[in-house]
Formats: sequence, structure tokens, C-alpha cells
Amino acid sequence: MLTPEFTREDYEKTARAIRERIHVQPTVALILGSGLGPLADSIEDATIIPYTDLPNWPRSTVAGHHGRLVTGKLENVDVIAMQGRAHYYEGYSMAQVGFPIRVFQVMGIKTLIVTNAAGGLNQSFDAGDLMLIVDHINLIGHMGLTPLYGPNDESFGPRFPIFTRAYDKHLGDMARKVAAANGITLREGIYICLAGPAFETPADIRMLRQWGADAVGMSTVPEVVTAVHGGMRVLGISSITNIAIDDPASDKEVSHEEVLATGKIIVPRLMTMLRGVLQQL
Ligand code: HPA
Repeated sequence: MLTPEFTREDYEKTARAIRERIHVQPTVALILGSGLGPLADSIEDATIIPYTDLPNWPRSTVAGHHGRLVTGKLENVDVIAMQGRAHYYEGYSMAQVGFPIRVFQVMGIKTLIVTNAAGGLNQSFDAGDLMLIVDHINLIGHMGLTPLYGPNDESFGPRFPIFTRAYDKHLGDMARKVAAANGITLREGIYICLAGPAFETPADIRMLRQWGADAVGMSTVPEVVTAVHGGMRVLGISSITNIAIDDPASDKEVSHEEVLATGKIIVPRLMTMLRGVLQQL
């Protein structure tokens, strides 16, 4: 594949379609993961754009993902929020999964806040915890599934981008401060991205834990890869919606319903975190 799936013109066309509908210049993009969409309901003076109105925008086909962009003000910051995201397992190419991030880059947005639902691998975590993502393991990417596959457009970023500090230290410090000020327990750890959609086996879980990962999920990393390639600063927070099961003899099992239900309980705390970080920007 030597022809890129999307050209700069494709990203610019979608950016224009968004700009025609909104009356603000967003400076922060938010991605709201499984069950976390209600966070967008607090955005003031909101303009809502269904993904179906936007050329090439990947629609989410998963329960718990709305499929619309919400722009407006949150803590006096002009934000653009993705209420629902696309995942590779839905049938999208990685270029499609990364598409919205490139559109944000073209719109001049320099800060990305990503959220997701994740399974807890770290044995000190509880379901319902929040975890600041301090680093990630791009397992899916190391298998070749990356939005950066194919010819590189240098106008977006370098061929060999550096990922030593993928998650912005300054934004992480802001999140720690907000958690401390509000009595919120904020875990910290490494997120590992798998392709899904099958949940992990107990053997997978034990392996991922040995690799040093603290939380496992099926999203986020492709978007972060695109953002870091494009020079954006990134804050990532996982909602630990379930504790990963590491024993085949366990009578417990994970379900998407559990992920959504726990996500709902976490929403107010995650909202406090997001508001607190936005206040400091
Ligand atoms: N595994 C993978 N993805 C997830 C999980 C999990 O246990 N929970 C929420 N997303």
C-alpha cells in the first residue's frame, strides 16, 4: 500500500465541515470512552454534530458509544468532545481510527484528553478506580496495526516519531493535583492496547501483568499514537471498570454490561478530574 488512505485534503475537508457548524475555536479535544459519553452532557452552549454528517468520520457501532461531536465550553475552555469512538475490531482501518485526531490537528488543537474503560491487571486496583495513564504498551501497533502505516506525510509529523514521553508530564501533574484536592484516589499505570473484541483469557491476563501492564483495553493507543506523531500533548485516564480475571477456575466473568455499568458510577469522579484539569489550562 503506497497510496495513503487519506490525504491532507481529506482531513481539511472534514475540518471545514466542522468549522462551518461551530461558533468556537476549540483548544482541547476530548475522547469519551465506553459508558463515559454522559460527560459531554455538561458542555455548555453545545453544538452537536452527528458523525454521519462528517465526511470520512468513523462511526461507532458499539453500545455505550453515541457517535457525535459535541463542542462548547467546559470550565470556560472551548472543547470538542467525541461522544463515542471507533475501534479497530469494528472493521475500521487504523487510518480510520486515527482520522479524527488528524482532523483535530488540522483544526489547530494542541491538547488531547483521552478516556477509556479498561480492565484492571494491577492487583492493588479495584473496579471503579481511575488510573492516570503514565505510559502505554502498543501491542496492537507492534503487530503492525498502527495509523502511521504507509507513506508518511511530513506535514503532520516525522516518519519515526519519538514516544519516550507520550503522556505529558505537566498534564499528569495537573491531574494528580485535582485528585488530591478532591479526595479522589487516582491510580497510575501502564495501559496496554489489544485488538479485541474477545476479552482476554486468564493466561493472557497473567502474561500482560508480567509484561508490566496495569490496565488492558481495546482503544486509546492508536489515537494517542496519531496525536503524539502530530505533536499534540496528551492526558489519558482509564476507568477501571472491572478487574481482569486471571484464574480459569474463577466463577466470575467480565461483560460489556459490567463495563458500562461501572463506567456510569465513575462518571461524576471523572468529570471532577476533567473539570479540574481544564481549570488549570
Ligand atoms: N479487557 C479489555 N478491554 C476492556 C476490559 C477488559 O477487561 N474492560 C473494559 N475494556
